[in-house]
Amino acid sequence: MNASPATPAPGGVIWLTGLSGAGKSTLAGHLHADLRARGRLAAIIDGDELRRGLSRDLGFGPADRAENVRRAAEVAGMFAAAGVVAVVALISPLRADRRLARDILARRQLPCAEVYVHAPLAVCEGRDPKGLYRRARAGAIPEFTGISAPYEPPENPALELRTDLAGVQDCARRLLAFTQAFLGT
Ligand code: ADX
Repeated sequence: MNASPATPAPGGVIWLTGLSGAGKSTLAGHLHADLRARGRLAAIIDGDELRRGLSRDLGFGPADRAENVRRAAEVAGMFAAAGVVAVVALISPLRADRRLARDILARRQLPCAEVYVHAPLAVCEGRDPKGLYRRARAGAIPEFTGISAPYEPPENPALELRTDLAGVQDCARRLLAFTQAFLGT
C-alpha cells in the first residue's frame, strides 16, 4: 500500500486583463466554476472586490494602479503556491505593471498566463454594465481607462478572447481548455 499522499495538482495564475466591460469578471466566474466542477481548487481575485478591501486605500492614478497590480500578484502567488488556480480579473492597463506581476510570480517559479479579454472600446462602452463609461464621458470619473487613461493591450498574450465576436459560453470553453492545457491538468 502506498501511504504517501497523492501529489497535489499544481497551482498557477490565469491573469485576465482588458477594459472595463470586456468580460473579465464574467469569464473569471465561469472558469472558477468549471475548474471547481472538475475538482480543482480555484479562487478569483477580482479588481472590484480588491478595491473594496485589500486595495481600498488606492485610487486610479498610475502609481496606485501599479500598487494594485502588485498586490494582486502577491496574493495570486500565495494561492498558486498553495496549489490553487488563481484567476485574476483586473484591468491592469499598463504593460510595465503586468510585466512586474509576471516577474513576481516567475521569481517563485509559479506558472502565470496572460489572457487578453478583448472587446473594442465602443463595444465595452455600449455594454456599460455599471454606467461608468457614461459618467466618465460626462467628466464625472477622472482617469477612466479607455476614456481618459490609457489601456495598453498585451503584445503577446498566451490567449486572446474576442468577447464581441464570440458568445460567453464559447469564450468560457476556450478559457477552460487553455487553462487545462497550460497547467497540464
Ligand atoms: S486597475 O487598473 O487597478 O487594474 P481594477 O481592475 O482594480 O483596475 O478596477 C477596475 C474597476 O474599478 C472597474 O471595473 C470599475 O468598476 C472601477 N473604476 C472606478 N474608477 C475607475 C477608473 N478611473 N478607471 C477604471 N476603472 C474604474
